[in-house]
Amino acid sequence: MLTDKRILLILTGGIAAYKGLDLIRRLRERGAHVTPVLTRAAEQFVTPLSVAALAGHKVYRDLFDLTDEAEMGHIQLSRSADLVLVAPATADIMAKMVQGRADDLPSTLLLATDTPVMIAPAMNVRMWDHPATRRNLAQLRADGVTVVGPNKGDMACGEFGPGRMSEPLEIVDAVAAHFGPRPLTGKRVLVTSGPTHEPIDPVRYIANRSSGAQGTALGRALVGLGAEVIFVTGPADVAPPDGVQVVPVQTAQQMRDAVVAALPVDAAIFAAAVADWRVASASTQKLKKSKDGLPVLEFAENPDILAHVAQMSEGRPRLVVGFAAETHDVQVHATAKRLRKGCDWIMANDVSPETGIMGGSENAVTLISDEGAETWPRMSKTDVARQLAERVAAALA
Ligand code: CTP
Repeated sequence: MLTDKRILLILTGGIAAYKGLDLIRRLRERGAHVTPVLTRAAEQFVTPLSVAALAGHKVYRDLFDLTDEAEMGHIQLSRSADLVLVAPATADIMAKMVQGRADDLPSTLLLATDTPVMIAPAMNVRMWDHPATRRNLAQLRADGVTVVGPNKGDMACGEFGPGRMSEPLEIVDAVAAHFGPRPLTGKRVLVTSGPTHEPIDPVRYIANRSSGAQGTALGRALVGLGAEVIFVTGPADVAPPDGVQVVPVQTAQQMRDAVVAALPVDAAIFAAAVADWRVASASTQKLKKSKDGLPVLEFAENPDILAHVAQMSEGRPRLVVGFAAETHDVQVHATAKRLRKGCDWIMANDVSPETGIMGGSENAVTLISDEGAETWPRMSKTDVARQLAERVAAALA
């Protein structure tokens, strides 16, 4: 899908540079030609030899390397690509790009290029949150630079938060989206994602282990195919993807209201792990320990958002897709669930703890439709998302 696309890949100096090696492999697997450029700092993290070996191409490093200038001037090098990709992009290279500095080969290439530029930032969370980086990011976007990620999570520096470089496959998706085809252009797709939090009192809530990873991957894949995505998300660990319209909610009732407000849509995909029950009357004050005994919580049933939308008599999306999180007899339960809820497809998955699926990076799904059950091999959530997005595009075509 990236056949013969020429990518000028600039690796800058961050611990995430090691993921750059996998990125090169993934881009080449899809048919792209990768011309690698390393900053001096990047060479502290990956060796030019390993980069050259994976890219199957000479590594460019120095502005004043005369051999290179004889072979190919830096102006020509910067323009010989279909896309300039900076991954990882440090806070430093972002600042240099904003200022238009050209004091080494990578920054000179970025200033001289007339080809589209994409960056995958990676840095410490405080650096990412710093007002200077915020300003630089806004300016780069205004300059037409596409930004992929970063993701939120544990960082090599021991902190937690946004700043981790996107995974190589997520970057590949963004590159593929850049080049098209975009069969979902003009289509509106709703995605629910993440867990819901149901309050017990102002400080406590009932939740579940959903990370939002599958919903985020799905949102990203749909945007990649050109869809306008309304992303209704509970409090997830994984940040929403770029390019979607994010509607943050906490509870199932808020999620239902947000979903209804987002209609009409062409397709609706319910990847959220919605709490089935809420505390009937959550306390407005913190529940205190009492010598009169333990508190008794009474539950009320939450609205079934998927069933509500799937069974709408007017304005039903053309395609309604649910997920079925099961721990046993997955296919049997999921098949019954599809009929009970009235959706077109169910993506059934086994979330028993030994599978590591809930909160993990992989998924094993069976797509159940009125044509039967189709079991997909275990694969990354990114790949599940990509395949599902392609199926959605085919169904809406
Ligand atoms: N779902 C929803 N609203 C709810 C509960 C679930 O929209 N109140 C959606 C989920 O987003 C998912 C599908 O319904 O797409 C199935 O969720 P799941 O938790 O597997 O099913 P339940 O409805 O909870 O059924 P059961 O308790 O039988 O597992």
